[in-house]
Amino acid sequence: MSYRASTAALLVFFLPSCSSPGPPPVSEIQASMHDHFALARDLRSWTVMGVQEALVETAGSLARSEGAWGLPPGSSEWTDTLRRAAGGAATAASVYDAAPAVAEVARLCGECHLAYQSGPGDRFQTTPPPRDGSAGRHMNYLAWSSRLLWDGLVAPSDRLWMAGARALAGAEGFPAPVSDRVPGEDVIEAGHRLRRLAADALEITNGDASAARAEILAEVWRTCAACHQASGISAEFSRPF
Ligand code: HEC
Ligand code: HEC
Repeated sequence: MSYRASTAALLVFFLPSCSSPGPPPVSEIQASMHDHFALARDLRSWTVMGVQEALVETAGSLARSEGAWGLPPGSSEWTDTLRRAAGGAATAASVYDAAPAVAEVARLCGECHLAYQSGPGDRFQTTPPPRDGSAGRHMNYLAWSSRLLWDGLVAPSDRLWMAGARALAGAEGFPAPVSDRVPGEDVIEAGHRLRRLAADALEITNGDASAARAEILAEVWRTCAACHQASGISAEFSRPF
């Protein structure tokens, strides 16, 4: 062990006794963001998986959530608009109808972050999950790419949006026989549709066009949800990702 390393080891050993260990303090805004983040993230899962009941419940919670954001006056305009969008998702007749409102929620998160020059920023990882060709892994890959698109809207971040679009465009092996519960022609059609949407997503390089991005994301989710509902996957899904 070098002198440097042993000094470092000593420091690590002694530091906890003179400073209080634990996570850094979280601001009121950050805490409320994590609450809303969790709700909005779950909302996205229910939409992708086509789970109407959970979608309605989560969207309702987001719509009713108090504006305990710890933000300066003026920000209630943003939160009110966001809650109205969530309310639209909660009262939509189907997952298909709710998808645009759920994408709009993500867009509004991003618009407020932009207005405050704040938010989660670009911190999300773009490393793909391993692909081994199995249906489960494949779906993880699709989930990862659609998540990046969502992160791109919420942050907002051109880098994340483009990473998501490239991932979706390169979803190799899709269409693949994802399951014997899905007819082959449905897989092929969904594959065409997702690649077309990915190509559209790649065209929108400028974050100013967030409304166009939200529209594409809603169409991606509708494609995911339609197959999950038709194949009975929606009914079995219970754990948001
Ligand atoms: C009213 C404006 C506003 C809205 C609407 C808003 N945010 Fe934020 N968000 C902020 C601000 C300001 C920060 C920076 C907080 C800080 O660092 O203290 C932030 C930070 C964050 C963070 C990072 C928190 C951290 O640990 O640093 C996440 C994640 C986040 N927002 C997610 C969301 C999501 C998801 C939505 C939509 C459901 C959303 N935000 C809607 C203003 C907003
Ligand atoms: C053509 C049909 C089809 C399409 C389109 C489709 N999926 Fe799936 N998905 C399935 C099937 C079938 C399963 C169950 C896989 C299994 O049995 O291993 C599944 C499972 C999943 C799971 C795993 C759920 C769990 O139980 O943890 C995720 C996540 C997922 N899909 C995401 C997506 C996303 C995101 C999209 C759209 C970008 C999408 N899927 C599009 C058929 C589809």
